[in-house]
Amino acid sequence: MKTRPKTIRTAERIIQTVEVTEGAGVTVHRSIGTPALRNLDPFLMLDHFGSDDPDAYIAGFPDHPHRGFNTFTYMLDGHMQHQDSMGNKGDLNSGGAQWMKAGSGVIHSEMPQQTEGVMAGFQLWINLPANAKMSEPNYQEYSSTSFPVVQEKDSQVKVLLGDYKGTKGPIEDPYTSVSYFDVALNSDTDFAYATEKDLTSFIYLFEGEAEIEGKTIPLHSFVVLSKGDQVKVTAGANGARFILVAGQPIGEPIAQYGPFVMNTQEEIHQAMADYRDGKLVQQKAAMIGS
Ligand code: CO
Repeated sequence: MKTRPKTIRTAERIIQTVEVTEGAGVTVHRSIGTPALRNLDPFLMLDHFGSDDPDAYIAGFPDHPHRGFNTFTYMLDGHMQHQDSMGNKGDLNSGGAQWMKAGSGVIHSEMPQQTEGVMAGFQLWINLPANAKMSEPNYQEYSSTSFPVVQEKDSQVKVLLGDYKGTKGPIEDPYTSVSYFDVALNSDTDFAYATEKDLTSFIYLFEGEAEIEGKTIPLHSFVVLSKGDQVKVTAGANGARFILVAGQPIGEPIAQYGPFVMNTQEEIHQAMADYRDGKLVQQKAAMIGS
């Protein structure tokens, strides 16, 4: 049998985040979903929010629609309440996360439950394949303690989605194949992780400093990793903390208008008409989680 040499993923692109005002006036730092990086199949958007100034988050995200994809929100700090057209009411607290499959259509709100202190986290939009875009929505929410943390010699890995060396996160989704880890790496040590070669993968560094294959990664950088068998990150003198996300590309056309992401313009027009006519929400689904 022929053996192929292992390839280490490099920092193919480092994307500057763009400050965007979302919802009723919340400041977010966007990387995927900006002119520099429209999307990164299967990912459609990544927002990092983080502020200790209530003016930057207090307005929250009042009722708004989604169709055709999933949203995954990981709360690093703070308290947000979710309410949706499926009748679900959820509380997202520090270290917890929610997976919302918008599918055929959801209208929801995400409102801060705090008037002071830090609110910080990430929202990632994950596309759905054509055959699941109009499928039944669902909402999965888990508190911090539900996510396993793998303690290694030099790092601590919290498993939010997917499987880390046999340790699985609690969120289940049959339509997407995404792994999402929160990695805290000790100062001047390496993190190495074997990945499937063709998965799309990225890192977002949100504490400390790091280097990937000789390239310095500034704090608050979004890094598109090249394809390869292994991810290797070296922490700087103050350690590093980052999310490492990987997903199977879908490879289908993307038609997007704001919170509607379909395959064709015709489907987008349908989504807009449905929303206008009060027909966006077609199915209700139960809440899963703890
Ligand atoms: Co939303």
